[in-house]
Amino acid sequence: MATYDLVVIGTGPGGYVCAVRAAQLGMKVAVVEKNPTLGGTCLNVGCMPSKALLHASEMFEEASHSFAKMGIGVSTPKLDLPAMMNFKQQGIDGNVKGVEFLMKKNKIEIISGKGRILGAGKVEVTAGDGKARTVEAKNIVIATGSDIARLKGIEIDEKRIVSSTGALSLDKVPSSLLIVGAGVIGLELGSVWHRLGAKVTVVEFLDRILPGMDGEVAKQFQRILEKQGFAFKLGAKMTGVDKSGKTLKAAVEPAAGGAAQTLEADVVLVAIGRVPYTEGLGCKEAGIALDDRGRVQIDAHFSTSVKGVYAIGDVVAGPMLAHKAEDEGVACAEIIAGQAGHVNYDVIPGVVYTTPEVSSVGKTEEELKQAGVAYTTGKFPFTANGRSKVNQTTDGFVKILADAKTDRVLGVHIVGREAGELIHEAAVLMEFGGSAEDLARTCHAHPTRSEAVKEAALAVGKRAIHM
Ligand code: NAI
Repeated sequence: MATYDLVVIGTGPGGYVCAVRAAQLGMKVAVVEKNPTLGGTCLNVGCMPSKALLHASEMFEEASHSFAKMGIGVSTPKLDLPAMMNFKQQGIDGNVKGVEFLMKKNKIEIISGKGRILGAGKVEVTAGDGKARTVEAKNIVIATGSDIARLKGIEIDEKRIVSSTGALSLDKVPSSLLIVGAGVIGLELGSVWHRLGAKVTVVEFLDRILPGMDGEVAKQFQRILEKQGFAFKLGAKMTGVDKSGKTLKAAVEPAAGGAAQTLEADVVLVAIGRVPYTEGLGCKEAGIALDDRGRVQIDAHFSTSVKGVYAIGDVVAGPMLAHKAEDEGVACAEIIAGQAGHVNYDVIPGVVYTTPEVSSVGKTEEELKQAGVAYTTGKFPFTANGRSKVNQTTDGFVKILADAKTDRVLGVHIVGREAGELIHEAAVLMEFGGSAEDLARTCHAHPTRSEAVKEAALAVGKRAIHM
């Protein structure tokens, strides 16, 4: 007889949420975690600490540059970086404790150690002291997440050449920060250190920032970041870093090859993506198939090639996003319980938590063009939104893409303050298969920034009021 109905390996947002949902459905559940704290990358060295620093650094920036025009006189704010890092740590601790509480509340056992799958129903857990035990379970869910992607020949020391982990814990503000990769991590952490005083240069392989996001949004956002002081080197790659001197000397050359240029920086942040984490999991020996990119292969029901073993989150295909992992965790637990768990991959919002924020749900204009879908565009700038005007935060716009024949909303893209909150009315609308007309006829409170979303929906039918 198996001890548990379900053992989940990994306690990031995918794993712990899956465990909670399974416990709600009456299963006897254990989670296996190799790190000293629960919560995975997101809570410990990812989403949550970066959001704490983004918030704190934004307040610093506002106090330095925006208070005076509102008639608030303060002496020049002074940065106390250790205190800011302490603020970050308090946020991490609070959330980690929250997950511990949820485990206790749902009677989920926490097994500390590194999990290795021995085959269907068996997980070996090796604790920090090297002692191993075998845990038996009717079902296993792999939720081991992802690790940083590395650049060949460039060693990450987390002091001068850092990944996102080191960039969240620098002990002083670098006077210059060179970032490799104009993706989400590069732009968020670049924003943090830029606001605190670093000169930021971003080297990006492609000829655009934020690949995957709507092109028009990315272009406008790049202009906004440049206005803030970011420098971009697009279509370029870093090929090496000389660490011998006091400052780092990075060799940067055109993506297509050519003469290298030397860029000096105090700190280099490598943010070129993440890779699935399956190290030591025993997939090969257990017969769990991986795909050509090292991700655990699953079917439409999260089932791996071994019966009773499932996988969710960053370790499987799809966007590496905490909320995608959470929803997969819920659906997977429901499927194991015999229910019809399901994730709608067409409606997964994406947010870049900079100032202004960038958010997106559904198809981009490029994707619709490529698929040959006839669409109508409705756009509304925040410069024409009353609330944004009075707050003097008018950067950005809302763009809605709707099916030309049926008016069904296919994609919504926003650059602007609070874009990460605004996007969810579009997500709900799209989940219900709603049209631009539905959104346009929904009463929106005045004065709110959300009215810009309604106006963009009106603009799909060429009848925006304030433009
Ligand atoms: P990313 O995939 O978002 O961006 C990586 C960037 O690096 C791309 O623009 C890519 O073209 C570029 N690149 C790749 N190799 C390069 C090279 N050799 N030289 C120059 N540029 C190169 O990856 P990122 O920012 O590291 O984030 C990792 C994962 O974490 C992503 O999947 C992201 O979605 C997720 N994440 C999500 C956040 C959010 O939702 N707000 C926040 C932080 C991370």
